[in-house]
Amino acid sequence: GGGRRGYHENIIEHYENPRNVGSLDKNDDDVGTGLVGAPACGDVMKLQIKVDENGIIQDSKFKTFGCGSAIASSSVATEWVKGKHVDEVLAIKNTDIAAHLKLPPVKLHCSMLAEDAIRASVNDWKAKKEAKNAAA
Ligand code: FES
Ligand code: FES
Repeated sequence: GGGRRGYHENIIEHYENPRNVGSLDKNDDDVGTGLVGAPACGDVMKLQIKVDENGIIQDSKFKTFGCGSAIASSSVATEWVKGKHVDEVLAIKNTDIAAHLKLPPVKLHCSMLAEDAIRASVNDWKAKKEAKNAAA
């Protein structure tokens, strides 16, 4: 919510029907994969982005082996990254996600996983792109 036009506002839905669960082909050159873990609890999150030639994220999927707040945080993260430039999504903060989902303080690290996963997916995509350019 909060003035982010185009996003659905039914926060409870992120718990009951998480958006964008699944996988993209990690061998696709246009796909970045972020795999991160939370040392505090051992939960693991995989977030993927598919990026077009202009750096715009066309699609995003996640798989989270973790608590409900981590799953809901990944669901919000995949929705927020879609349609944005890869550099723009690096500004998404876990505190924004936590505020959006109204997470209690003990669940802040769950949203941190989502912020880390976004960054890791962008870094993976950039590394692939650089490797490809270097080979060309
Ligand atoms: Fe806002 Fe889904 S409730 S992103
Ligand atoms: Fe660890 Fe939620 S309890 S990610």
